[in-house]
Amino acid sequence: MAAPSASSLIALSLTTLLAALVLIPAAHAQSAPAPTAPEPLDIFAILKKAGGYDTFARLLNQTRVGFQINNQVNNSNEGLSVFAPTDNAFQNLPSGTLNNLSDQQKVSLLLYHVLPRYYTLENLQTISNPVRTQATGQDGGVFVLNFTGQGNQLNVSTGVVQVTIYNTVRKDPPLAVYQVDKVLIPVDFTQPRPPTASPPANPGAPAAAGNGTSPGAPATPDNGNGAVKKGLGLGLVSGISFLCMWVLI
Ligand SMILES: *[C@@H]1O[C@H](CO)[C@@H](O)[C@H](O)[C@H]1NC(C)=O
Ligand SMILES: *[C@@H]1O[C@H](CO)[C@@H](O)[C@H](O)[C@H]1NC(C)=O
Ligand SMILES: *[C@@H]1O[C@H](CO)[C@@H](O)[C@H](O)[C@H]1NC(C)=O
Ligand SMILES: *[C@@H]1O[C@H](CO)[C@@H](O)[C@H](O)[C@H]1NC(C)=O
Ligand SMILES: *[C@@H]1O[C@H](CO)[C@@H](O)[C@H](O)[C@H]1NC(C)=O
Ligand SMILES: *[C@@H]1O[C@H](CO)[C@@H](O)[C@H](O)[C@H]1NC(C)=O
Repeated sequence: MAAPSASSLIALSLTTLLAALVLIPAAHAQSAPAPTAPEPLDIFAILKKAGGYDTFARLLNQTRVGFQINNQVNNSNEGLSVFAPTDNAFQNLPSGTLNNLSDQQKVSLLLYHVLPRYYTLENLQTISNPVRTQATGQDGGVFVLNFTGQGNQLNVSTGVVQVTIYNTVRKDPPLAVYQVDKVLIPVDFTQPRPPTASPPANPGAPAAAGNGTSPGAPATPDNGNGAVKKGLGLGLVSGISFLCMWVLI
């Protein structure tokens, strides 16, 4: 008599404990949001639900740009438009493209996929070019996109990448999300990089590295090293203040 009741007591208390573990967090989760406030939009949840945007989502997380998007959507009246490259789009980039980008350039690349307003596809078909994105270069210049539409077709061009938009991931204001099958690479990224401050070449080694100064290199406007370094410095400063902003918020 004593044995079964002891074990059933244990079973009962285990069940109670389990129920408490399951129910208490659930109750908290349900009571957390203010009853009147609508659920804030979450770009991560939207991409996850759509599926096939893991790389974009991971980069949005790493760079914190995704949280900036969520914040802006929640706090602005203008809304936002996001061009979400598929996982295939990232896979089709020449290998090393992402790894070659500085953290600041990764932020720029992602912000280049964001317009600071909500636009329908129809809006974009008739919008006047060029269209400012959220991204700025090292010199503070705004990165732009061009849209061309005809019939139901909408193309977006960076100058080096052109892609047709076929699929809308999310269409309701304040956040439009459009699928792009290519990563929108800003034209600035494809311009030759400034010569890196690499250590002087090994006397014995062939002059394979440091190709930037090769006389055969295509003629490019000489930015001047000083200007480039200053630009990099500013980029770093704005990158840091960007991070600080996020910590403070
Ligand atoms: C961001 O990445 C961290 C670390 O990988 C992860 O724990 C977190 O859940 C991610 N957040 C989102 C919103 O995906
Ligand atoms: C969204 O904005 C409202 C009003 O500005 C603010 O109270 C709320 O905390 C914000 N929610 C999120 C998740 O940022
Ligand atoms: C990445 O950088 C390396 C070394 O500078 C260069 O050889 C390579 O072509 C770059 N790759 C891409 C895709 O830009
Ligand atoms: C869009 O791009 C496709 C493929 O590059 C091209 O054939 C078409 O003419 C373009 N349409 C518009 C409206 O620019
Ligand atoms: C974008 O459109 C503007 C205005 O029509 C034009 O001047 C510019 O050359 C276009 N750029 C690209 C990369 O198509
Ligand atoms: C150096 O640049 C020249 C011309 O731009 C190019 O043909 C060559 O492949 C480059 N070499 C390396 C090692 O990148």
